[in-house]
Amino acid sequence: MTDDRDDRTDDGAAGGHGSGPARGGTRRTGAEGVARRTVVRAGAAGVLAVTATAGCSRYGEEGGGETSPPPAQERTGGATPPPADGGTRLGATSEVPEGGGKVFKAEKVVVTQPAAGEFKAFSAICTHQGCLVDKVEDGTIDCPCHGSRFAAEDGAVVEGPATRPLGAKPITVSGGEIRLV
Ligand code: FES
Repeated sequence: MTDDRDDRTDDGAAGGHGSGPARGGTRRTGAEGVARRTVVRAGAAGVLAVTATAGCSRYGEEGGGETSPPPAQERTGGATPPPADGGTRLGATSEVPEGGGKVFKAEKVVVTQPAAGEFKAFSAICTHQGCLVDKVEDGTIDCPCHGSRFAAEDGAVVEGPATRPLGAKPITVSGGEIRLV
């Protein structure tokens, strides 16, 4: 009885020619256990990875390289709300008199119309000491602080103390509306 048990043990340890089904079963069970643990760990990691990826895509950054479709949809959908015509609407062309201009104080931009249908825009911040210009009159854009005057056509200094011209601002005119680009 004892010898048989020893033989089985020896056989199993030495060769393992299939004489120990119990051992093989134990090994398989062990292997399966490891495999299951691995699967469980991988599954947990997978869940974490998916969660992390979903978290990244919510922020709308390009960090989620593997999940490229959602960010693209988000960008197309909500990241660009206002740019319909491109830029901030300043006002209607009818607000800017021919041969004169209008100061859009909120945007700190002055728009002039030196000739019919020709609109130009400049920074409304005086280059002397930073006051806001307040009117366009007799072909000039005037600063109330120290009397500087700038040409309505190109923003050049007509009268000091300012020495530098008003900076040009890019605008678009379409459908009777003036937009700051
Ligand atoms: Fe405009 Fe001085 S700030 S003239």
